[in-house]
Amino acid sequence: MSEELAIIRGGKAEQYKSLFPQIKALVGDEKDVIANLANVSAALKEAFNFFWVGFYLVKDDELVLGPFQGPIACTRIQKGKGVCGSAWEDTKTFVVTDVDAFPGHISCSPLSKSEIVVPLLKNNQVIAVLDIDSKELATFDEVDKQYLIELCEWLVTVI
Ligand code: SME
Repeated sequence: MSEELAIIRGGKAEQYKSLFPQIKALVGDEKDVIANLANVSAALKEAFNFFWVGFYLVKDDELVLGPFQGPIACTRIQKGKGVCGSAWEDTKTFVVTDVDAFPGHISCSPLSKSEIVVPLLKNNQVIAVLDIDSKELATFDEVDKQYLIELCEWLVTVI
């Protein structure tokens, strides 16, 4: 696998569809969690130019910052707190069109305006969340939700 992504510019669905085989090739048969989450963060950031892409990992009943791409971020998040903690507690994906309208949103950067958080489930337990932030309002929709859930469902099989 060459360490360069072929980025398709166009509709979001086409971008995700072209990106996923490349991510799968990049991961290959690597089993190291940190390496894989780091490369997935980088690939999503590079393909979509998102403001912040990263993972929080469930450790001792807290979410702890894991591999990410973007500005520095909060290190620990409690269950039920913010968008990430809510996605963990409710075991569901949150698409937030305006972070200022989300009660309890944790602002790691004032530049972040919208966000999507997808839980990663193993044996029905949340083991991590994928968090993506945008500098624009309403960046994420049902298309992002569908493809990012698909990505996370695959990702838990290789970490
Ligand atoms: N805004 C998130 C916290 C994580 S940062 O966006 C990287 C939240 O409310 O959970």
